This record gives sequence, C-alpha cells and structure tokens, in this order.
Amino acid sequence: MLRLLRHAAVASVAVVVLSAAGLAGAQTPNRTEILLKKMTLEEKVGQLVQRAGGRSKSLNSRLDDAELERVRAGSVGSYLHVAGAEPLGRLQKVAVEESRLGIPLLFAMDVVHGYRTIFPVPLAQAATFAPDAEERAARIAAEEATAAGLHWTFAPMIDIARDARWGRIVEGAGEDPYLGARMAVAQVGGFQGGNALRPGSLMATAKHFGAYGAAIGGRDYNSADVSERTLQEVYLPPFYAAARAGAGSFMAAFNDIAGVPTTANRELLRGTLRERWGWQGLLVSDWGAIGELLNHGVAEDRKGAGLLALDASVDMDMIGGVYADDLKDAIAKDPARLKLLDEAVLRILRVKEQLGLFDKPMAYHDPEREARELLAPEHREAARAVARQSIVLLKNDKLLPLDPARLKSVAVIGALATDGMSSLGSWRAQGKAEDVVTVLKGITAALPTRVKIVSAAGADPRNLETSGIAAAIKLVKASDVTILMIGEDYDLSGESRSRSNLELPPSQIELARAVLATGKPVVVLLANGRPLAITELAEKAPAILETWMLGVEAGNAVADVLFGAYSPAGRLPVSFPRATGAVPFYYSVNATGRPADPDLAKDTVRYHDLPITPQYAFGHGLSYSEFRYGDLSQSTQSVGPGERIDIAITIENIGGVASDEVVQLYVRDPVASIARPVLELRGFKRIELGAGQRKRVTFSLTPEQLAFWSPKGQWLVEAGRIDFWIGASSADLRANGSFEITRTHTGTAPAAALPTRVIVSNFN
Ligand code: NOJ
Repeated sequence: MLRLLRHAAVASVAVVVLSAAGLAGAQTPNRTEILLKKMTLEEKVGQLVQRAGGRSKSLNSRLDDAELERVRAGSVGSYLHVAGAEPLGRLQKVAVEESRLGIPLLFAMDVVHGYRTIFPVPLAQAATFAPDAEERAARIAAEEATAAGLHWTFAPMIDIARDARWGRIVEGAGEDPYLGARMAVAQVGGFQGGNALRPGSLMATAKHFGAYGAAIGGRDYNSADVSERTLQEVYLPPFYAAARAGAGSFMAAFNDIAGVPTTANRELLRGTLRERWGWQGLLVSDWGAIGELLNHGVAEDRKGAGLLALDASVDMDMIGGVYADDLKDAIAKDPARLKLLDEAVLRILRVKEQLGLFDKPMAYHDPEREARELLAPEHREAARAVARQSIVLLKNDKLLPLDPARLKSVAVIGALATDGMSSLGSWRAQGKAEDVVTVLKGITAALPTRVKIVSAAGADPRNLETSGIAAAIKLVKASDVTILMIGEDYDLSGESRSRSNLELPPSQIELARAVLATGKPVVVLLANGRPLAITELAEKAPAILETWMLGVEAGNAVADVLFGAYSPAGRLPVSFPRATGAVPFYYSVNATGRPADPDLAKDTVRYHDLPITPQYAFGHGLSYSEFRYGDLSQSTQSVGPGERIDIAITIENIGGVASDEVVQLYVRDPVASIARPVLELRGFKRIELGAGQRKRVTFSLTPEQLAFWSPKGQWLVEAGRIDFWIGASSADLRANGSFEITRTHTGTAPAAALPTRVIVSNFN
C-alpha cells in the first residue's frame, strides 16, 4: 500500500525539527550517551567506519567470514552498496547479537531516482517544476529501499550546476538556487517521510556540500574557485534548505574551494553547517576522500588526514579506511581530540536511534514486504505520471500532438528508442533494463494495431557507426511521420562523465541530418542528461521534445505526450547554450557595465561569433494550449522588515486544451550597493488548467528573500526599489511591477533558500 505522506511543514521554515537536535546540553544522559561511556576506543572508531559490501562499487550483501568478524568486533559502523531484506537482516543480526555492545549497522546505497522503480533522472524531475512530484518519487524510492533493508540513501544531490560539461549536472536540479532549494526540501521530505528521522525512515543525504558543482572547466572532482558571495548566494542555499528540512545526513564534496579541500574545511563544515546553521546530523565523507587529502597536498600522512577530517567534523569515513587504520593512534597521541571523536560517535549513534534500530533492528528486513513493494503497479503508475511531467516541449511547428486517428504509418528511428538502460540513466540502484517500457514499446502500445510501425537504429550513439542510416531513411520515406530519438546514452552523463563538447554525438548528428533532409514530418525526442548545443537541430526540426532519461515508464510517458493524452508542461531547469564555448551559461548573470543586449554594438559582454541569447532559456517549455496572463495586482507598494507583499496574477487557459502551466516569478534589485543579477527566480507554481479555465496565483514574498551577501559577510536587505516580473519563462515575461523596501536591515538566511508562499484560487 502506498503511503504518500503530505507534509505541510516541508514547505515551511517555521516548522523546523533539526535531526539530532538536543545532542548538546541534555540534562540526563540518554541512551546514546550511556552507550558511549561503555565503548572502548576501538569500538568508537569502529562506528566511524563505513565499508563496502563488495571490493568495488558492485553490490555484495553476503559478506565473507573476515568481514563478519569485523562486525562482531564492532569495527564497522555502516556498509554501503549493499541491499536485500534477507541478507542484510542476517548481517544486522550478527551486529546486534554477536558484537559486544550490540550496536546496529547502518545500510546505505545511492538510491537517487528510484530503487527498483526508476523515475526520471533528477535533472528531468527538476523540469517538472513540481516539488510535490519530486517528493512523491522520493517517497516511493524510500518505500522500496527500506523494504530492501536500507536505512540510508546518498541523495538528494543538490549541487547547483552552471557548466553543462560537468557530467553530474544530471544528478541535480540544474542552475538555479531557488529551484534547487525547493527540490532539495521536497526530496528530503520524500525520502525521510518528513522533517525528522523516525523508525522506518530512509535517511537522506544532502550532497555534495558545498560547491562541488562549481568544478572548474566542468571537469569532475576539479577545484572550485568561487567568491564568498557566489558560494553563499548560489551554491549553499539548497544545503541550508535541506538542513532546515531535517536532512539526517550531509556528504562533504570531493573538491577544494579556493585551495581548501572540503573534507578538511573546518570553517565550512564545523563553522557554517554545524555552528551557524545549527545542524547536528551525520556528516559522511565522499568515497575515499579523507585519504585523498594526501593528494590535495594538505596532509603529510594518513594520520594527519584523519585528524583534519575529524577536526572539520566529518563523522564517517566512506570506504577510505583512514579512520579505521589511523585514527586510534592519532588520538592516543593527542587525547584532546577524544572529545571530537566522542561527538562524532554520538551523532552516528543518534541517527541509529532515531531510525529505530536499537529498538527494532529487524524492522527493515521483511522479505515479504520487499517482494510487495518493488515495482508495485502503483509505483509504476507514479513513475509514468512524473515522467510525463518531466517532458519539455522545446519547439513545435504545429506538428504535435499527433492524431492517432489520422496515422497510417510511423517510423521510430534511433537506437535510444529501444535502449532500456539509457532510459534508466545514471545511478540505477536496482533498476533493470528489462523493466523499462522503451519508447518503441510505449508508442506501439499507444497506437491502434492498424497503424504500421517500423523501426531502425540508424546509428549507434556510443560510437561512429552509421551504416544503418540508409536503411532507416527508407523507413522514414515510407512512413507518414517519423519519431526520431537521438542524444546521449546513459553512459555520457553522471559521475566522471564530463564532456568537452556539448553537441550531440557525431553519429546522432549524421542520422538527424539524413532524416530531416527527407522533408518528411519528424518529431525529435532528445535523450540527454545535460543541456546540449543543438542550434542546427533547433532550426531544422519541426518539433522537439526534451525527454531526458525518463525511467521505467519512459515509453508510456512519451506516448502520452506524442499523441495528446497529456499536454507537455515541463520547463528547463537549465539554460541551453548555443555552443559549448558559451559555458558556463546561466540566466541569472550580474548586471555589467556593458549589458549584453543582442541589438547593441559589439563592445558588450557577448561573443563576436555567437548570439549571447540562450538557444532555450531557463524556464522555457511550450504547451499544446495557450495561456493569458492578466490582472496583475500587488497588496502594497512598500514592505518593511517582518512584512510581506502579495503579488497576484490571473492565468487563463485560452488554447482549448487542458494543460498545466508553470507560472514563474522573477525579481531584480535595480540599484544596490553591489551589482545584482539581472533576474532571480523567487517563486513558481505548476497549476492545472482545464480548457477555458482561469486561476489566480498569489505569490507572497518577504524582504528577506531579496537579501544579498554583503561585503561585510552578512545577509543584507537594502532599502529601495525591487522590480518583479511574472512570466512563462525567464525569457517570456508577461507582466511586471515594482515595490519599495522601506528599511535597510540584515537577513538571517540565504535568500534563495527561503520559500515563497503560493496560493492558487479558483474562480467560480
Ligand atoms: C562517490 C560519489 O561522489 C557520491 O555521490 C556517492 O554517493 C558515493 N561515491 C557512493 O557511491
């Protein structure tokens, strides 16, 4: 049975339950503190150790004797890359029944966009602009993962990414900190089943704290070198929001920021995250990252590396073995460090307690529940719904939707149309290619049997093989319409999958050129884990649907949209540049002395050889319907500290087709003591509108949401005018106004992390 919990509190920072809150200053020792007193130094260190089930990243939940001995000795706190209710139950039994203190293990996995029922990749889910859809996907992933014995997921990945060369852009919510913060909160709530850990939760991990997405050149693991303002205003807000939403765990990023490796960044981890934000959950290193402090050249030996990480408050060593092998001696030499070790142990014991593992260690190990949950029909149904919501209609020259009643023959061209693995995308947990309704299958199931469907791969996206193009073109010529699926396969985005070129793979370009040259009607389905540079395609193709990597229900979702059962309404969470050379590329750029007005002379911030406008703007996405934006009103002309302004607009569906619309609110501080971005997203709402229906959408903002990180290192709200726009994308602004902030005052939180209240009302 699905338990789709709705958490009103998820959207509100007023209701905050910080995990592990109350650790410090408790009057009487609680269970974890009593346990700590009984622990030897070895057992304490053991809690900080996370090991992999297998030798590599492959899954192996049946451990050998030597490994079981480690568990009995209390030398392990957690395993990752393990799964399965039964094998993990046996392992847990060893820990609680055969180790001296009976401390349960934590079982972890990267359950990122589904466990067995794979949902769209996170970038695609962000394109829904519907946090409730993200929350639902995360909730289902958690239902399945916890049924399979898991307590902990290394998700959500909430790194802001503005350089599409970075392969891990697929794992996050794109370029915008406001959207990123909303999606972070939604996923934390979905995974954990609320703001606080409780028995049965899947603990969420906000990762990779704090500027992993800023890797220079888009090269994975590379240094970041962002200003303090950019760090605070762009990269950290989703993390602040996740901390407030009660994420039980955080993961420190691999990379360094301006020379300080995050794993040893005391100021960021202990200072910002724990002391200033008040977050007391479990902080885990990334894979072997403590040992990598030697490569960074900030530690001379492993002992030194371990102490740097412990000082920075990294509680658990993922796989590196530094804490396991070297921490005991290091602490013996410097007993003052024992206090730091005790704190780390307490934080780990505390989440184990919150998850109910001391009271009911076997609660996650019911194989019957596991069999019921995995790939349950209602999970597939939800995956289909989220996949439809993720699809973005980039272009449509009156070709879509296709009317099945008028079709006699359809050619489905492209290897990706039959590639289930690529529909699953990066991080597939227990997803299986054979579970996937491929695009060819989905189209076949949606069309009446009298329609002739033919298909061919044409060209292989993985290599330069294009010998199938001629045969494919014959099918295209013999069919009424062609559905051409091209793009990146699953292995071109994700960790360690950075690309220096944002164009389609060469074989895919060749195939597209040949198909489009026939002059027959062609609908292009783009499959990709990042924005691509597709100027030629955008010019020549009559219709383009951005279909990302949509998960197990990809084909059904695509068919729903192609044949008009569902009007697309997804929006781009990332700008599409016109060429690779334009990256980093994002809409929220600072105002400069020479604004890049495309009509101005060439001495402005633009390229000599490339229009500076996006190919497709942040927030862009077309519909089968049309919407009128009107009757803009605002509740006040001025706001002061503690007050709110309500900005309302009426959206009317005038296109005759029931469809969602994503209404977006952007702001700008036109005159401030520092140059501010030309536009910043500060609200959005995906609304459902029947044909002819109107709804009124009210955004309610506070001045604190307009704060910036001042040169003095604080959040500052400056008095003066604020301009705002409401529109259908960052490049399609339909109505605007302005208001005054009456008094300069300090803010308390990253502005983009704060949620705008949105009320949607119907007309009678
Ligand atoms: C390394 C990745 O950077 C991180 O995101 C992931 O959670 C760990 N490996 C564990 O798989």
